Amino acid sequence: MNITKKFGAVMLFLSVAGGSFAQVGQSTKQDPEEKYRPIYHFTPKHGWMNDPNGMVYLNGNYHLFFQHNPEKPVWGPMHWGHAISKDLIHWDEQKIALYPDSLGTIFSGSAVIDKDNTAGFGKGAMVAIFTHHNHAEEDRKTGLHQNQSLAYSLDNGGSWTKYRGNPVLPNPGIWDFRDPKVMWFEQTKSWIMTLATKDCITFYSSRDLKTWKKESEFGKQVGAHGGVWECPDLIPMQYKGSTKWVLLVSINPGGPNGGSVTQYFVGDFDGHQFRTADTKIKWLDWGPDNYAGVTWSNLWDRHLMIGWMSNWQYANVVPTNRWRSASTIPRTLALEKVGQSLYVSSTAPKEIESAFRPLKKYSTGGNKELTIAENIPQAYRLDINKLKRQSFKVILSNEVGEELVIGYRQDKNEYFIDRAKSGEVSFNAEFPKTAFAERLSDNSTVSLNLYVDVSSVELFADGGLTTMTSLFFPKKPMSQIRIIGDQKLKFQEIAISEFKK
Ligand code: FRU
Repeated sequence: MNITKKFGAVMLFLSVAGGSFAQVGQSTKQDPEEKYRPIYHFTPKHGWMNDPNGMVYLNGNYHLFFQHNPEKPVWGPMHWGHAISKDLIHWDEQKIALYPDSLGTIFSGSAVIDKDNTAGFGKGAMVAIFTHHNHAEEDRKTGLHQNQSLAYSLDNGGSWTKYRGNPVLPNPGIWDFRDPKVMWFEQTKSWIMTLATKDCITFYSSRDLKTWKKESEFGKQVGAHGGVWECPDLIPMQYKGSTKWVLLVSINPGGPNGGSVTQYFVGDFDGHQFRTADTKIKWLDWGPDNYAGVTWSNLWDRHLMIGWMSNWQYANVVPTNRWRSASTIPRTLALEKVGQSLYVSSTAPKEIESAFRPLKKYSTGGNKELTIAENIPQAYRLDINKLKRQSFKVILSNEVGEELVIGYRQDKNEYFIDRAKSGEVSFNAEFPKTAFAERLSDNSTVSLNLYVDVSSVELFADGGLTTMTSLFFPKKPMSQIRIIGDQKLKFQEIAISEFKK
């Protein structure tokens, strides 16, 4: 993220988006300001949101903090907003957790439960480790404007105290020095901080969260480098009885379809250094709208991730005004082998899968085209199970002729999402471009789960081996679905399920 670019985007918003918002057609929801608000995705009630921060599970509650500008629906002075969920679907927005202070605004970071009171804030304290961003220092161009700091809560995230000794990890002179993700590494009885440091990741260790020692760097010569590295996460995952380490790194710009994207590496970590044999660049989600995703802490072996459902290319100017940006659905991450290489698959967690009620099912094909349903709901899941591999399109359309096309091209072995004619697209020149994704699976049938929620679609293909997330802003709700194949459609089952509310 380039701060100057962000402010540039804010100015553009003031001059352009006001106009395009006025053109938006009639709303089906009562309040036009609410027209594009999703039903089962988290959005802030008011103002701006970007990265998810400090996700931590405690006493039956999933905590989600987030980059938040409560005053305006554009990026600005960052706070940590806060929301809590018991089921990963219904989110209760809480009061703001962290406000800017004399050391700066509050950029991205993580939270841990300090069970053994290593930091001395109290047994079981919830401790947030975040980047203080000092805008005045940035203007002085010393390169020292980003520093890592602590805050703690002794009442389950209800109220927060900043540590008096902040910052705990001062900037050594690296312009982009941010987004600490901290985890406990049992073998060395240390906390490990994974930090984005411009064009690589730097690992630090600590016994008490307050004093940090540099361990190593990773990535200068590996992976995608089309933009700055941000929001990393280091995750121990099991594969067939052994532990592999997955390193997530968001980059902006440099995505395969433009702008913001998350790449990952599968390798080993010994408490000091991360190593990988990966030479191929691996994308967690090929769509344009899943960025800065990291996983919940204090969840043991469950790897649950949530991302920011937007892209820095246009996040500040999408046609919503009261609020701007939603999170993706939470996703379960797992390792899967394709050929000789391990990949991370993403799937909807069981809590989300079971929040949908079947509406209609088809179990035989025969024609080239299938109209799934008319007057479909605004929040639903479409499952296509074991469709014999061929080129096909899933077209969501509405009464004013707008279309969102999700499909597969057999000649290129690629999935795609085409939102060029999906409604409001003129707020940014990049937005209407078709996004493509490599199909990794070599299965002879294609299975898809599409999660649609008013103004977003999340495609999980082949058990989540290929995923794509995309926003769209139709003038009228998409009320029809058609599936059109190159040849006769042969499948095991196609089903549409409605979100239960
Ligand atoms: C990623 C990011 C982070 C930064 C935050 C600022 O989207 O640029 O690197 O901490 O957003 O809001």
